[in-house]
Amino acid sequence: MTTYRTVRGMRDFLPADLAKRRFVEEKVRECFNFYGYDEVETPILESFDLISAKAGDEIRHRMYAFKDLGGRMIALRPEITPSIARVVANKLRTEVKPLKLGYIANCFRYDNPQMGRYREFWQAGFELFGSSHPVADAEVLAVNNELMRRLGFTDFSIKIGHVAILRQVFTDEGVAEADQNRLMELMDKQEHTKAYHLLSDLKVSDDCQATMKGLFKLRGTDWKNLLEKGRQLLQQKEGALAALDNLEAIIGFTRSLGVKTELFMDLGFARGLEYYTGMIFEVFVPGLGIALGGGGRYDHLVELFGGEPLPAVGCAPGIDRIALALEKKGLFPDQLTHVEKVLVVSIQKELLPKALELASNLRKQGVAAHNEVTGRSVGSALSYAGKKNYRYAVLVGSTELERQCVILRDMKAEAQREVPITNLFNEIAFR
Ligand code: HAM
Repeated sequence: MTTYRTVRGMRDFLPADLAKRRFVEEKVRECFNFYGYDEVETPILESFDLISAKAGDEIRHRMYAFKDLGGRMIALRPEITPSIARVVANKLRTEVKPLKLGYIANCFRYDNPQMGRYREFWQAGFELFGSSHPVADAEVLAVNNELMRRLGFTDFSIKIGHVAILRQVFTDEGVAEADQNRLMELMDKQEHTKAYHLLSDLKVSDDCQATMKGLFKLRGTDWKNLLEKGRQLLQQKEGALAALDNLEAIIGFTRSLGVKTELFMDLGFARGLEYYTGMIFEVFVPGLGIALGGGGRYDHLVELFGGEPLPAVGCAPGIDRIALALEKKGLFPDQLTHVEKVLVVSIQKELLPKALELASNLRKQGVAAHNEVTGRSVGSALSYAGKKNYRYAVLVGSTELERQCVILRDMKAEAQREVPITNLFNEIAFR
């Protein structure tokens, strides 16, 4: 006999694991609601070209890609933003703006499986289309902040930077987009020495080299001071200065939106995805060296996919890593499901139909009343109810039934009493 295991990097979610994921998802949906994001779903399979257009080499090389039987090059989505931009470009063109779309979906990346890095993982997403105003960027940061707070995190920080500062410096030097992408990828991986070497190879000016060296050093929590130093460094570089002003405006609005979370500014911060055009950020909790979520502004993706030019900003909190952090910090509530279960058991075999009828009536009234389905003894059924955290057991016996009553056993208190069937719902629902 062959024993089959999950494919490497894939995970089964047993009930306790799934309850944790659902807890995170519930909080995500609360945020959709509070900030006006309408939930959408897109297919797991996408055209390879769509996903790889602006994915960046790192993700491009880690895609599950294959030819389908029709000869089309297909990818299992490694993220959802291109799919949402495709939908906006094709199907929601005429929708009133701003358009706010949310999602919760699984993604696939052929990453090396390790803590917090899986080959199938879940992202939540908030994508806002139709505003280039810094308040839109600030709102995306505020949504992330709200999600983290609702989940119970008190200690976390947001790392923030701005792609346009870097790209403007490169563009002023005439660095081609493909080379800019290579530079950004190295910076994303914190490989600054390799980035310097590449800059030398590209024969950029000494001023550009010095500016980049300066920008790499501008990182820390004193963002006001860092912005000031950035301004000094970028004197005469109009485009980069405008991006710096934009970053300052965004931070200002996040403060008005009530975000008091620590901001770690890093002016040499880049992200692997190539579609970013403005502010970028990632969320961290102390003790877990991997980002719980990330996002930023991407103003040209909808246009690239055939839509009208449409500014956009968004983010994707990673559900698995959030769950991991909640677990590590002991922040999951003891009781992950709030449903109080009731097990209905017949004491005598011939009363089984009556027990089934009773459970059915309780369900109609909104009680999670389950049937005892094995025909085992009352003792075994009660032992099962104890192990499976039932709140009550209802015992249907002939003696009590003669008086139109049943026994209601409180599994927590380990006490039981006779109650009239007509009162059973009230006794369970309004203790
Ligand atoms: P990302 O930074 O590539 O951004 O992924 C977002 C989050 O997905 C990460 O912060 C992490 O929590 C989670 N994640 C990524 N890879 C893995 C993995 N192998 N295992 C577990 N979790 C993972 C994006 O995907 C962009 N689409 C975000 C965005 C939305 N930007 C604008 N809108």
